[in-house]
Amino acid sequence: MVKKKILVTGGAGYIGAHTVVELSQAGFEPVIVDNFSKSDDTLLKGIEKILGSKPVFMEGNCTDRTFLRSVFEKHQFACVMHFAAFKSVGESVQRPLYYYHNNIESLVTLLEVMKEFNVNDLIFSSSCTVYGEPDQIPVDESAPFKRAESPYGATKQMCERILEDAYSSGFRVISLRYFNPIGAHPSALLGELPIGTPNNLVPYVTQTAIGKREQLTVFGNDYTTPDGSCIRDFIHVVDLATAHMNAMQYLDKQKGDTFYNVFNLGTGVGVSVLELITKFEKATGVKLNYVIGPRRSGDVGKTYADPTKVNKELGWNAKYSVEEALLHAWQWEQKLAQ
Ligand code: UD1
Repeated sequence: MVKKKILVTGGAGYIGAHTVVELSQAGFEPVIVDNFSKSDDTLLKGIEKILGSKPVFMEGNCTDRTFLRSVFEKHQFACVMHFAAFKSVGESVQRPLYYYHNNIESLVTLLEVMKEFNVNDLIFSSSCTVYGEPDQIPVDESAPFKRAESPYGATKQMCERILEDAYSSGFRVISLRYFNPIGAHPSALLGELPIGTPNNLVPYVTQTAIGKREQLTVFGNDYTTPDGSCIRDFIHVVDLATAHMNAMQYLDKQKGDTFYNVFNLGTGVGVSVLELITKFEKATGVKLNYVIGPRRSGDVGKTYADPTKVNKELGWNAKYSVEEALLHAWQWEQKLAQ
């Protein structure tokens, strides 16, 4: 049987690479496009080790129409998964136009090229950042968009708006709003590879534990939460990856030429930063050096998903615990240090 080809933009990155593995293992043929602007070939090598064969890969930029056309000329895709985007909140504040150009232009160019080649199905990587500081917790998909705290957040809101406006011209689209992806592949051959000092919590935790960073700073313990630290919905990256297949299969079953829907991807369980540190110490047996510092500007105090819609409609549930995710992240960090 001919395998269905799936275009995975940003497939050399953290979430894209995990999704490539899940797709391949489920019998699809992912085709990776990446320009290595925020990555290198480390995760491509990891994919190859896990699968025992080199993934199909084309190097290039999704804002480059000529390049994208060459990808679509070479392959007939059943679906596109668009992970390629910049995601650093802090960097987006420093370089807003760089973010707007990359994140918006790549989506628009991709949609135009999909149209040219009659490829209609798209899974888009959105984020819980679209909600800003939500009025109600857990947050469901009907919550309104608040003013984005950063240009990065604004690009995710704008991309969703573009999709909402454009899908009726012949696209079938699902936007997945990720909460906080953490962890690594259980084989320890794939994981997060932050460039320079990590912005996100878990890579900072594992780098501190291994001695690459002196100590972790907990950003604030004066939030209105039980222990004062922020609360998030941490979701294992492999669970996140498998949800893309549920979304793709759901899209495939839809009748008609146009479709648009959004789903939260979270566990539905809120875990505080201090709880996460305790869970890390328990799961790994490593004591973490940390201090309490001031709040980080732009941080939301408390957010976690209401995943009812994704559970019911896509038939997807998170399977891994936060402890397992932290153990896998730690095993990946240790592997990197070898
Ligand atoms: C941010 C973005 C989110 C994006 C995600 C991945 C916002 C509001 N959130 O999530 O959209 O998808 O990054 O790039 O734009 N923390 C510490 N010490 C640290 C690092 C983090 O205490 O050294 C705390 C933070 O204050 C926060 C929690 O850990 O409460 C999680 O932080 P982080 O991993 O950066 O994710 P978010 O800010 O939730």
